[in-house]
This record gives sequence, C-alpha cells and structure tokens, in this order.
Amino acid sequence: MNIGGTLIAGPADRALHGTIRLPGDKSMSHRAVMLAALADGVTEIRGFLPGEDNLATARMFADMGVAIDWLNEEKTALRVHGVGLHGLTEPVGVLDAGNSGTCVRLMTGVLAGQSFHSVLVGDASLHRRPMQRVADPVRRMGAHVDGREGGNKLPLSIRGGGLTAIHHISEVASAQVKSCVLLAGLFAEGTTTVKEPKPTRDHTERMLPLFGQPVAVREDGTIALTPTDRLSAPDGVVDIPADPSSAAFFAVAASLVAGSDVQLAAIGTNPRRDGWRRILAGMGGGIELSREATVGKETVADVRVTAGGLHGLHVDPGDVPDAIDEFPVLFVAAALADGEFVLEGAEELRVKESDRIAAMVAALRAAGADIAEQADGVRIRGVHALAGGIEVDAFGDHRIAMAMAVAAQRASGEIRIKNAAAIATSFPDFVPLAQGLGMNVRWEQES
Ligand code: S3P
Repeated sequence: MNIGGTLIAGPADRALHGTIRLPGDKSMSHRAVMLAALADGVTEIRGFLPGEDNLATARMFADMGVAIDWLNEEKTALRVHGVGLHGLTEPVGVLDAGNSGTCVRLMTGVLAGQSFHSVLVGDASLHRRPMQRVADPVRRMGAHVDGREGGNKLPLSIRGGGLTAIHHISEVASAQVKSCVLLAGLFAEGTTTVKEPKPTRDHTERMLPLFGQPVAVREDGTIALTPTDRLSAPDGVVDIPADPSSAAFFAVAASLVAGSDVQLAAIGTNPRRDGWRRILAGMGGGIELSREATVGKETVADVRVTAGGLHGLHVDPGDVPDAIDEFPVLFVAAALADGEFVLEGAEELRVKESDRIAAMVAALRAAGADIAEQADGVRIRGVHALAGGIEVDAFGDHRIAMAMAVAAQRASGEIRIKNAAAIATSFPDFVPLAQGLGMNVRWEQES
C-alpha cells in the first residue's frame, strides 16, 4: 500500500452540525464475506464497508474460486456465490491481506481447514505484526504453518486439512485469535473451545448462527463450536450496521468543538464495541441514544453527541478490549479534557497497524499535549488548546491519521499529517464526511 498521502487539518471555524450515516462495520464486513463464501448458495451482503481491508478479504476468496458480484459502484452491496465448506480451490498466487490484521488472522483459521497450500502476505506494517498467536493454535489442530521467525511473521505458508478440535486458552484478549480458532473449528473433528482472558468483540459468535452454525457460550465465558456440515444464510441476506469505530472520530470531534451537535445514524452498539461511548460519557461527554433497534444479531442506535466540558478518567482495565481501536482518538479527547486521564493494561496498542502508544505520544506531544508514555498505556493531563503549525507522522496507520485530524480541530493552526493514505483501509470517505459536518480537514493537493 502507498502509505504516503498528507492530510491538512486545522481549527474548526464553526460548530459541527448535521446527521450522517457512516459506512459499514469493518469487523462484520470481513466476517460476512468469509461466512458467505463458505456457505452453500448465494448470500447478499448489504452495508458492506468498501475499505481496502475488506476488499482484500473479498479478493482472497475470489482468488480461491468464489464468484462475487458487486451490486453498486460504491461496492457497499455484493452477492457472494458460496462454494460450501469444502469448495475453495488452491490459489495460484499468494493471498494478499494488505494492511489488514483481521483479514490475515481470520483467514489463517479458514486456510488451516484447507488441504491445499496457500501463502499469506501483506504490506510492510502487517509483516511486522505478530502471528504466533494464530499460528500456534491452528498447528495444535493439525495444520502445517511456517513463516519468518518460526511462523510469527508473514509471509505465512499454510497447508491444512484433517484438523482435530482443541481447547484454546488465549493469552491475549483478541477477537482475531478467537475468531481464527472458531473458523478453523468449522473444519475440525470434535468440539473446539476458546477461553479468553477478557471478553472481546463477539461478531463471529453472533454471525455464525445466522449461517446455521450454533455457537455455545458457557457460564465461565468459554465459547464452544461443534461443526455442522454446511453453512447457509437462511434468508440469503446479511445487513451490516454502521461502524462504531468510525463514529468515534466524529463523536470526539463534536465533544471538543464548542456548540457542536451531531447525530450519527444507526451505529452499532454491541457492548463489546461500545467502550469508547462508555469512556467518553464517563469523561462528561454529552451522548444520547435513540431509535434503538436490532440488525441481524447486532444492536444499533442513533447516537447524538453534543459539545461539553470533558474531564479526565482512569480507564477501567475491563473496558480496554471494548475500546481497543478507539484509544487514539480518546487520547485526543483526554489531551483537551480537565484533569488526568490514565490508561493501563493496553499493551496490545503497541502491535496494531503502528505502535499506537508511541505514535500518539509523538504526535500529541508535538502539538503541545501533556502526555506521558507508559509500557502499557499513557497518562495525559489536559491542556486548553493544541499547537498548530506542525507536522506529525501517522506512520501509515489510519486511526492515527484520523485521530490527529480530530485533534487539529482544537489547534491554534494547521497540522500536516503525513503518511495518512491508510485512511482508505477503513474509512475511505472520512474526509468528505468530516467536511460535511464542518470539520476543517482536506487532502494536500498532489504537486
Ligand atoms: C478485530 C479485532 C481487534 C481490533 C481490530 C479488529 C476483529 O484486534 O483491533 O481492528 O475484527 O476481530 P485484536 O483481536 O488483535 O485485538
């Protein structure tokens, strides 16, 4: 991926206003394509996120013989011609996950179930990220996995098939690890179980039953899957709610810019994704829910956010997995809140698309924030405004770029955010939607 691309963001010159419909959920879009491809028959997916990450997942299945019809130009609706659990064909080339950890880790589970050979690759960032966490369990199930550093780094070479169920006790609170093992469990003999140290997003567990595959959650939180012999979406349609992780950028921006009042329509409110909302509300943010509804097995609501004085907070460690992707922008809220914000137990932030603790500490400090880096989190003391006239590095990480665009709305001048092109991985329309609400942000013109 081209990591370049410079965003120019500056102080908002007016309050943010408006109602917007955000693109589909990234996590659910990945899972919907995967399950539809492995199902019998045709599944239509609506509200799909056409970000580069999700398109990489769709392309992988196309590379393994799955026909996909795009139903509109924006690629938010598609029809997947499922080939059944045993219908994928050996890919001719490598399977490229681009920047996407979710794609590569969940696909490790799918590919572990295939008796053919496949090789997973990605971009430079993905090649730095740890894969032992998924290589180990699928090896224990019987797949052959190799790669750099003994299978901890991409490229990963996988030859699977003939799997046996395992009881996996995960050391990291990771939905990607859990989902990898459950997906491999679809192809294993026996009941596969996963126990996580803390509950993580449960979209896989919620979506599998939509395709006729029961998943049991035991009293101690252990998740158990006994494979059925086929998947199919009973009504042939999967609807994806709007992405709460994308919503969080605008929610924080609205909280920070005086006089703002923003309505985010039909946002996913799954409790395992809702940590940002609990944390922002705990910091004094004005957040109201209305029109609560269900989409498939997920909950949604309209989220209204009004500007208000924020204060610091000591984040409950139990909330960390529920807000894991939103910390970059929550650090921005904290940098401009009264008092102290403390986050601990979030060392996973160091192995995301960038080291998000180091990246945000560098960027916010350059903008004059009072932020101290800890091994597993940060301590932030709020200031009244941030400095402009600076350049910061998003390190090719979409969420760092968007978080700093939000920070700039309360800066004294413009902030240049370099290496920001990765916004296209999760939120290609971020800039026009942000502008529509009144945010001061644009792409620097190519010279
Ligand atoms: C995701 C899980 C999280 C999250 C990522 C999406 C998923 O990663 O950070 O953006 O869709 O399962 P981990 O499972 O590594 O925490």
